[in-house]
Amino acid sequence: MRTDTGQVFRLEDYRASDYRIPELEMTFRLTAEETRVTARLQVERRADATPQTPLLLDGDGLVLEALEIDGAPAAPDAYEATPDSLKITRPPQRERFTLTIVTRLAPADNKALMGLYLSNGVYCTQCEAEGFRRITYFLDRPDILSVYRVRIEARREEAPLLLSNGNPVESGDLGEGWHYAVWHDPFPKPSYLFALVAGDLSAVRDRFVTASGRTVALAIYVEHGKEERAAYAMDALKRAMRWDEERFGREYDLNVFNIVAVSDFNMGAMENKGLNIFNDKYVLADPDTATDTDFANIEAIIAHEYFHNWTGNRITCRDWFQLCLKEGLTVFRDHEFSADQRSRPVKRIAEVRTLRAHQFPEDQGPLAHPVRPRRYREINNFYTATVYEKGSEVVRMIRTVLGEDAFRAGMDLYFDRHDGQAVTIEDFLACFEEASGKDLAQFALWYHQAGTPHLAVSTRHDAESGEFVMDIEQSVPPTPSEARKRLMHIPLAFGLVGPDGRDMTYQSAEGAEVEDGVIHLRKRRHSVRFTGVRARPVVSLNRGFSAPVTLSVEQPRSDRLFLARHDSDLFSRWEALNTLFTEAAIEAAARIRGGKAAEFEADLLSMPAEIAADESLEAAYRALALTLPGESDVAREMGTNIDPDAIAAARDALRTAIGRQGQATFAEIHAALQQHGRFSPDAESAGRRALRNVLLDYLAAAGGPELAARQFQAADNMTERAAALAVLAHQFPESEQTRAALAAFEARYRDNPLVLDKWFTVQATVPGQGTVDRVRALMAHPAFSLTNPNRVRALIGAFASFNQTGFHRADGEGYRFVADTVLAVEAHNPQVAARLAVSFRAWRSLEPGRREEARKALAAIAGQKQLSRDLRDIVERTLA
Ligand code: ARG
Ligand code: ZN
Repeated sequence: MRTDTGQVFRLEDYRASDYRIPELEMTFRLTAEETRVTARLQVERRADATPQTPLLLDGDGLVLEALEIDGAPAAPDAYEATPDSLKITRPPQRERFTLTIVTRLAPADNKALMGLYLSNGVYCTQCEAEGFRRITYFLDRPDILSVYRVRIEARREEAPLLLSNGNPVESGDLGEGWHYAVWHDPFPKPSYLFALVAGDLSAVRDRFVTASGRTVALAIYVEHGKEERAAYAMDALKRAMRWDEERFGREYDLNVFNIVAVSDFNMGAMENKGLNIFNDKYVLADPDTATDTDFANIEAIIAHEYFHNWTGNRITCRDWFQLCLKEGLTVFRDHEFSADQRSRPVKRIAEVRTLRAHQFPEDQGPLAHPVRPRRYREINNFYTATVYEKGSEVVRMIRTVLGEDAFRAGMDLYFDRHDGQAVTIEDFLACFEEASGKDLAQFALWYHQAGTPHLAVSTRHDAESGEFVMDIEQSVPPTPSEARKRLMHIPLAFGLVGPDGRDMTYQSAEGAEVEDGVIHLRKRRHSVRFTGVRARPVVSLNRGFSAPVTLSVEQPRSDRLFLARHDSDLFSRWEALNTLFTEAAIEAAARIRGGKAAEFEADLLSMPAEIAADESLEAAYRALALTLPGESDVAREMGTNIDPDAIAAARDALRTAIGRQGQATFAEIHAALQQHGRFSPDAESAGRRALRNVLLDYLAAAGGPELAARQFQAADNMTERAAALAVLAHQFPESEQTRAALAAFEARYRDNPLVLDKWFTVQATVPGQGTVDRVRALMAHPAFSLTNPNRVRALIGAFASFNQTGFHRADGEGYRFVADTVLAVEAHNPQVAARLAVSFRAWRSLEPGRREEARKALAAIAGQKQLSRDLRDIVERTLA
């Protein structure tokens, strides 16, 4: 493990390298215990660099076997080598020279899953962000672009399949059971996009003809016997390729496009040029083993990695501070793709729920950082919801500010101008400024300033004069190392809803720029005055979630109920109801803490049945509208002094009250939605299943486990089976029906680790005191493994992130358990350990008893002598 040196990397310290490496030839001779890598680097000194400048290459835990300079063994005093660096102290006094570096690796021992490792017998690589330096010494930074030629040698029996980036150029036999293949990638790329795969896998093949008529050979490689489960991923890939041509004018550029599914993977997937490597969770799906959510995730991630070919690969990042340049933009692109493939409003609500669940707590806690950070100790800890999801929101706001046409013109200019380059956020923004003629200087703060802006809004109406005034004040809360904030440009979409539920018109608006239904806030306070407004409007704000802000609107509860019924903007309609639910839960939690019983307003309890039966709304939309805010959503709105037990009790009471009130309607719709005929993963069918499953949750709360037990038994697809299992396990953990269902599920999927992950998660998220012991016991299950990231996330990650009453057990046992497990994972996989430790980030918002227990658990991690850079960085920032 690379331990922490305390070094901090700063944006302002960026300097271009004195050397370039325009070409690179690599030969891998693969064995599990002793792989030999020969890298031949064509090095070029920049014209303006001094000839004596030493060349300092990055390494990470490397063993150097040989070094040649221009074909001759390097003299011992010409270089200094350590496992973590190679310094050519006296480089040749020529502009160009070659370095030949031989390193020795042991893929079988690599459990950190960075660099070259073995996953289930398959050699594979993960190089982003800094994994290439675990393969050979290199200028391992994204602004060094090289053309790669890669030769792979392996035993044919062990690895009949040999893949790398680019196009295949040559292959053949080497005798004694060995063979080789050579790949050439004509597009210069940074080292983080290098990939190699070698193993015994099956190919699912297809082809795609690009807009200009080139045929691309597509392949998805999976373990033998899993071919059929890759069909949906292949379909999604072809749709994504077509969509990028139609929506962004972007064509694919190589003769082949390969995707490989592996079972041991730290993240979701990786966009290596022409050779995407995926966590198999995001490739494999069929009705019996995958839920509708799995299908949707596969579609989104296949598209995301494919879209990186232009946003990330053809145009890459100058340095890792610019990570959002490729990630935020590519998330925006995959969101748009999914919205086009499915339902736009439903997709938008889902995006906002994700943003609030993952990015808001980050922005409001100790790990807050700008979309483009200015400093880091470990870059892997910055693959965050802020960089990805908020980064996407910022691109979305650029489109809102510029309008569709100027936005597209800006994107075209970006592709045109920067193809083949490693660039910055400033380069990106300049394209939109030029294409639109607009000044984005204040807007750029969205990239530079951390924290979720808050808008406080109050309104006045004067019927006599027909004037409606909105007073809006913006503030940005302080975040670590940014005490004082500057005022931002916030595009706030709005509507004035009239008594008939339709949007009202107005004569004029003053006090802010108001254009196309958007108020552009730029100052601390705006008094926006609308004239020609006779009847009192109900104001609908942040429609479509036009800006990632929090909002407090002085508005009577009756206005919110009105919006929940009538807002023509479907996002805001959902938002109104969601706010009502959240407020009700907060109030009930306060009563419960005060020793009283929960109480709810009748007009709120009757609304769900109304919505469930409203056939003018898509089923998927109704399902989202009926989904109560989660316990952590309620906690986040409460802000401080959190008691997770009270929140859980309040939410349960609300669910039961709604279930009782709507029981008859819900039962009828639940029965009517039963599907007949063949399963289809399309959005409409998925929506009906989603609605059916939400109703089941209410019906169980009101009526007991029987219906869920029946749905579990009757289900012919994973979506309904898993939902029924969750209802049983979470609402009736002690029941006979639950015990039987869990046993049946385990027996049925014993040999399918990805599906068994669902079984681990459902048990890890059973509310209450007892779950920590249950999770401990499950760690001994034969299917569990601490070295597989999917298993760790399914069991431990789910417990720490999604089990509010279990993780936050008042006596601190949940915290101690997770802290111990973090350390156990840390021993072999720092990245996954650091992720897991992030679950402590909200510790300061807890009530005092739990806060102290959580602090002690964190301090126990921090007190370890030897910690990885990844984990040390997270715990120290969390405790700071
Ligand atoms: N670039 C990948 C993506 O598509 C994420 C890879 C991150 N890997 C890591 N070890 N930090 O989002
Ligand atoms: Zn990405």
